[in-house]
Amino acid sequence: MAIRKLEGKTLIVATHNKGKVAEIADLIGPYGLEAKSAGELGLPEPEENGDTFEANAYTKAFSAAKATGLPALSDDSGLCVDALGGAPGVYTADWAEKPDGSGRDFMMAMQKVEAQLQAWNANSPEDRKARFVAVLCLAWPDGHAEYFRGEVEGVLVWPPRGTSGFGYDPVFLPDGYDRTFGEMEATEKHGWEAGRGDLGLSHRARAFALFATACLEK
Ligand code: IMP
Repeated sequence: MAIRKLEGKTLIVATHNKGKVAEIADLIGPYGLEAKSAGELGLPEPEENGDTFEANAYTKAFSAAKATGLPALSDDSGLCVDALGGAPGVYTADWAEKPDGSGRDFMMAMQKVEAQLQAWNANSPEDRKARFVAVLCLAWPDGHAEYFRGEVEGVLVWPPRGTSGFGYDPVFLPDGYDRTFGEMEATEKHGWEAGRGDLGLSHRARAFALFATACLEK
């Protein structure tokens, strides 16, 4: 079946995560779309109880599309660590939940990942391989959905380095680079500075490139 294109100039971005909103706004910029985030519109945050990135991405995108009557784009993403059997994976945000329920602490989450790597004596770059995964889902109010997956491979460093970006960026060193995502400007994390054209560097930029090619006109 042919991929459904995005018509109209407004795109609902189905996320309440400010780091993701900023990156998606950057990526959408060149397409002249007006992005409105679910957080900004005061939409409720649906419960994510799927066990795949695709399932959670659909839950978020469809809930925002139904509430607004407009197509909505969601991002479900996470960090998958080889030595931990792909964990934290779809539970990446949950690993940052503070025990007292008062919000998220990503330094604590990065420490948790590091503690588990140390429990396996994972000290060589080979043993510390990880990837970031992002699945973008564009859903319409009638329930139709399209999916786009981007991944970026790298190794986890310790201690964390840099204060840019969000989430687990300070421990993720993408393959072929000597700076973590936390040490990169947004444009470099997107892959725009390296002249990669439409391919991108980060998992989100790569998924977005597939989405843009399939559904958007520049
Ligand atoms: P979810 O997609 O809302 O389940 O959350 C995914 C979690 O993965 C985020 O809260 C971040 O902690 C992490 N994550 C996803 N993408 C990135 C990224 O680009 N940099 C750092 N952390 C990320």
